Amino acid sequence: MSQFFLLIVTCLILVLVSSTPVVRQSFEEEAGSIPTQQRCGPADWNAVKTRLRNAITGHPEESRWPGRLLRAGFHDCFEGKCDASLVHELDRAENGFLESTFDLLRRSTRGTCVTLADSIKIGMELTMDIIGAPELNCPKGTVDANVAGPLGEIPTSEDEPDVILAGFRRKGFTVEEALAGNFGGHAIGRFDAGSIPFTPTETTFDNEFAQFVTGHSPAQSTGFNGLISDFKLAEHDTQGIVEKFANNPGALNKAFASFMLKLCSM
Ligand code: HEM
Repeated sequence: MSQFFLLIVTCLILVLVSSTPVVRQSFEEEAGSIPTQQRCGPADWNAVKTRLRNAITGHPEESRWPGRLLRAGFHDCFEGKCDASLVHELDRAENGFLESTFDLLRRSTRGTCVTLADSIKIGMELTMDIIGAPELNCPKGTVDANVAGPLGEIPTSEDEPDVILAGFRRKGFTVEEALAGNFGGHAIGRFDAGSIPFTPTETTFDNEFAQFVTGHSPAQSTGFNGLISDFKLAEHDTQGIVEKFANNPGALNKAFASFMLKLCSM
């Protein structure tokens, strides 16, 4: 009789356990990319910035991260808005070599209430700090997108200046801001799959790239170089603005600060 009773109790326990819903976090949830207001408390953006900085500092590719983080921010915000839709667009040709940046961002937000979208903005703010560019404070609290953003928004280096500038104008940038974005953005980092630095000081923000492009032709490679679109933008009827940046670092600083704030507010 007591054995029968034990069997009944065991069965009851089993039924109870199996009917209890199992709370299982998806990878995105573990990575912290869940809508902050739905499940999380206040998002600690400073903690994620510190984590990111610590992950980069002393990393074997330390000098590569500012360029990667800034390019990721440009591509995420410009393709629609700054909502991490880029993570669904990594197979697009223009987004090559950005996977490792998302691995880093995911690791830096894991277990926090900071969305992936906000971590991209934090990456841009941190980059501005590391490279000595004007301070950037992006609006945050953005929920992550579940789908890819619109195609064909990112300019390519084969595009003519008119096409590139029209794309920036459509998104509310002035010509001066667009040129500052390009010549300030390419003041750091590398191109050609990371093989060619734009300037000899690839982690320092300054007007050296604007000076180089206005003073050289694409054929005069000196170990560093520019994209064909960079040279064309400096020859176009916008030449005067690029020359102003080349002669006056303060003018580039001001226009780049304005470009970056508009970019990360999209
Ligand atoms: C104006 C039109 C632009 C074009 C056509 C363009 C195109 C490109 C291309 C083709 C690369 C090389 C990618 C590779 O081979 O790895 C690159 C790199 C880069 N771009 Fe742009 N870009 C533009 C504007 C911008 C803007 C506005 C920013 C940000 C403010 C930016 C930031 C960067 C950075 C930081 C890199 C280096 C990435 C790294 O070091 O990994 N670019 N860009």
